Amino acid sequence: MDGNGRWATSKGLKRTEGHREGAKAIDRLMDDAIEFGLKNISLYAFSTENWKRPVLEVKAIFDLLIEFINERLDNIHSKGICIQHSGSRKRIPSSALKSIDAAVAKTKKNKILTINFCLNYGSKDEILHAFNEAMKERKINRKDLSAPMKEREFEKYLYTYPLPAVDLLIRTAGEQRISNFLLWQIAYSEIFFTNTLWPDFNRDSLVDALKSYEHRVRKFGGL
Ligand code: FPP
Repeated sequence: MDGNGRWATSKGLKRTEGHREGAKAIDRLMDDAIEFGLKNISLYAFSTENWKRPVLEVKAIFDLLIEFINERLDNIHSKGICIQHSGSRKRIPSSALKSIDAAVAKTKKNKILTINFCLNYGSKDEILHAFNEAMKERKINRKDLSAPMKEREFEKYLYTYPLPAVDLLIRTAGEQRISNFLLWQIAYSEIFFTNTLWPDFNRDSLVDALKSYEHRVRKFGGL
């Protein structure tokens, strides 16, 4: 969800106003995604690198998340949306964890659409965490520690489990990089780059991305 800061600055507003407007783009996206029959959406809300930002901006993002959940949880639940969290729980303020956990618990049986908030998420952290957890589990179950790790065993420990591999990755705000996002899960994703800043991302932007995806020929390395 890149471009919140630039959106705000270009309008003479504080960066945090850009994040607030970015939250409204999530509202639109949830409704459009349900209408278009999308099943899973992962939103990169806060990366393991975003801790480098000024303390006040970090606080504003977590406060917005809490507000977002508190204000919308009943509505989200009534639409059949399941909330998932992917990322390390370490360092996330306890007030934010409480809101996320409540949202995850309340919506866990919902099947219409999963919204996966990637919060304190970084792919390198995820992969190391998954490997360490898989080895821990092997030790507990007295399995052969030196046996080769298979994809299936490993994937169970990814923060995103049980979400499937990503079909389409959308990067907003004109940047053309991955920024430590879902590296394992995007191995064969299609990628869509757009100059649209996240707060301006709307139904038309989503349609553009989906239309582009529709024309991709996915061969997964085959012919
Ligand atoms: C990236 O844009 C955006 C973020 C790091 C925060 C995203 C947060 C929200 C959309 C709102 C709150 C979250 C939830 C889950 C409701 P940027 O700040 O890097 O933009 P810039 O590159 O233009 O400065």
